Amino acid sequence: MITIKNKYRLNYIFNLIFKENFKKKLSFNWKNFSLRHEIINKIIEKKNFKTYLEIGCYKDDNFKRINIDYKVGVDPVSGGTIRLKSDDFFRKNKENFDIIFVDGLHHYHQVKKDIENSVKILNKGGVVLVHDCLPSRIRDQMVPRSHENWNGDVWKSIVELRTKKNFDVYTCMADEGIGIVLNRDNKNILKINCNNFKKLKFKDYYYNFSEFMNIINEDELFKIV
Ligand SMILES: C[S@@+](CC[C@H](N)C(=O)[O-])C[C@H]1O[C@@H](n2cnc3c(N)ncnc32)[C@H](O)[C@@H]1O
Repeated sequence: MITIKNKYRLNYIFNLIFKENFKKKLSFNWKNFSLRHEIINKIIEKKNFKTYLEIGCYKDDNFKRINIDYKVGVDPVSGGTIRLKSDDFFRKNKENFDIIFVDGLHHYHQVKKDIENSVKILNKGGVVLVHDCLPSRIRDQMVPRSHENWNGDVWKSIVELRTKKNFDVYTCMADEGIGIVLNRDNKNILKINCNNFKKLKFKDYYYNFSEFMNIINEDELFKIV
């Protein structure tokens, strides 16, 4: 029987041979930054938000630490309050939320859909946050997944949104990169010559991540939300 570790090893080799091989890595020292639940709770407090949705909950490490009047967690496997895939949840859901944390399947197309569906059910002045936007190494962002600590290619969906007129998008330097999507005019549109964002390379991200992702620090985050 093939173990998960061996599956990841095979995927790693497949990715290197058929997709991209690039050795440089970024050194983000996440231990020096706040954790996702700390940032989410601070936003909730600052904005006096009442309702929270989390897409992808796993062991509720984040979900259980969110302090708010009402929270819903969606995951097809474990954690949260609703056992569904995000697409099925959004199809059935009739509620709106003040703050939504997208942390489900870390594939570009799925993240893009999860963000777009989240924005549709966001209350006025609400915030969508996206986890795992800043991979350090090529293997952390490979699809198919090839490593235990995996960010996936979430970053590509953020780069694409950065080019849209109607979303204001940032990435906070904290906890593997926290994307911030605000439903308002884009204050800093990314100009990039790309018509298929899935095909962006880690090398492009490595050399341009600050501009691509619109990097901000925590203090700046609390000024923009
Ligand atoms: C990285 S974990 C979530 C971690 C959690 N948010 C936290 O901060 O501790 C990703 C979760 O997404 C779930 N997931 C996978 N595909 C999904 C989908 N299509 N819709 C919603 N959740 C999904 C997985 O079952 C897994 O539990």
